[in-house]
Amino acid sequence: MSATPKEPTILVIFGATGDLTWRKLIPALYNLHLDRYLPERLAVIGVGRREMESDSFRQRLKNGVDRFSRRGTTEPGAWSAFAQRISYFGGDLSAPQTGEGLKARLQEIEGGWGERSNRVFYLAIPPTAFEEATRQLEQLGLCKDCGHDRLVVEKPFGRDLESARTLDRLLTGMFAESQIYRIDHYLGKETVQNILALRFANSLFEPIWNRRYIDHVQITVAETVGVESRGGYYEGAGALRDMVQNHLLQILCLIAMEPPVSFAADEVRNKKVDVLRAIRPIPPEEVHHFAVRGQYGAGIVDGRAVPAYREEPGVAPASSTETYVALKLLIDNWRWQGVPFYLRTGKRLHTKVSEVAIIFRPAPHQPFPAAAVESWQPNRLVLRIQPEEGIVSRIQVKQPGTRMLLGPVDMAFHYREAFKASAPEAYETLLLDVIRGDATLFMRADQVESAWGVISPILDVWEAVPAAAFPDYSAGSWGPEAADLLIARDRHNWLQPALAEESK
Ligand code: BG6
Repeated sequence: MSATPKEPTILVIFGATGDLTWRKLIPALYNLHLDRYLPERLAVIGVGRREMESDSFRQRLKNGVDRFSRRGTTEPGAWSAFAQRISYFGGDLSAPQTGEGLKARLQEIEGGWGERSNRVFYLAIPPTAFEEATRQLEQLGLCKDCGHDRLVVEKPFGRDLESARTLDRLLTGMFAESQIYRIDHYLGKETVQNILALRFANSLFEPIWNRRYIDHVQITVAETVGVESRGGYYEGAGALRDMVQNHLLQILCLIAMEPPVSFAADEVRNKKVDVLRAIRPIPPEEVHHFAVRGQYGAGIVDGRAVPAYREEPGVAPASSTETYVALKLLIDNWRWQGVPFYLRTGKRLHTKVSEVAIIFRPAPHQPFPAAAVESWQPNRLVLRIQPEEGIVSRIQVKQPGTRMLLGPVDMAFHYREAFKASAPEAYETLLLDVIRGDATLFMRADQVESAWGVISPILDVWEAVPAAAFPDYSAGSWGPEAADLLIARDRHNWLQPALAEESK
């Protein structure tokens, strides 16, 4: 992690009584506080519609930290030192006096510090409320200093290419692009960032990181949770919008991008956009060849019976929203021509695991007798994103004995064992980056739009033709059969994620 920022900062969280604030943002800030990464002069103002005393607000946040922080329950002394930085501001943003009151609060804090601070406005609110909140900021002139003021926007960033563009026009009409931090929390995950370290800090991989040596790539983000209490939101989203458009395509970009000249925000982002632009567009009539959707039925997850998606709260009884997606993407550039990238993600799957598997081509010549290579497998490199973060590489070795018999073994590196320390949560990294003004791990407008462009044909076709056979996979399975067929057509199969294999 980076050094402690010095400049005074006010973090204003819109949507302060929502889930994100107490589950993710405040636990992340508290951990940054414990690690002494927060500027000495930092004030957090939670803004919400309902009236509440700052004390009750802080108590609610403390409960959130106790439940969700990676470090477990709070330590009283540390918590009270942290909590005194936090206050609550209640009011309806559409009322002019609310904005004026907030402005006065900011000025009061800055007056106490004797200088203008960096101001970070975090929109932890539904997209429908973005416009109102940002217009207030603009009208009150609270966020007009490009060097100091930042706006953090949570996903979903639009619901298709058109709405993402509209939102971009709205935001860039009021703020400079350099002030807008679009969050994809996957980019804050240690192991996602480690893809960059693995690729660009080692001379071992880059020479073979291309079509000559790599056969195909599989990206899996499997969840065991269902939609929980988010049925209302998820019904209008589905797995393609909720996970693929952002998290999975971001991972793909990191795997496929060219080496950046430096880690300056725009250098890295330019390379990622190049990848998205090179993804071969899927013609509408071929969507069924490249994309599969699924929806979970009832089943058993972690030994517990769970209901079908259609029985979840807030979900229509005949819903055709997908909870699973498998995709095949091709990248039309020199490095990746002809190398398929298979992506899959779903809820209520067998195991919670996210990983990238790079499967290498077979050795070009096989000098061993046929009997020696019966259990031969191609080399593979598996980057585990979560849980049990690490890297596993599968190689062939001679099995012990007098005969030449080959077999696969795994060389593994586990974060937990290697570093004996728990990694920061994604939101810790991202919040600190916003406070520091480093946008490298955030998405630029053209990146978000290109990602919508990649999935647009699929969205259109799926919207026009509702799925006929939902639900089509049982909770606790690895997804619908159609996903196996998608990859089997290319004579491949989904690798059992390494983690699931280990825990068998
Ligand atoms: C969110 C999605 O962006 O990512 C959720 O909206 C999903 O549906 C979550 O569960 C997964 O994040 P993580 O960090 O638990 O892998």
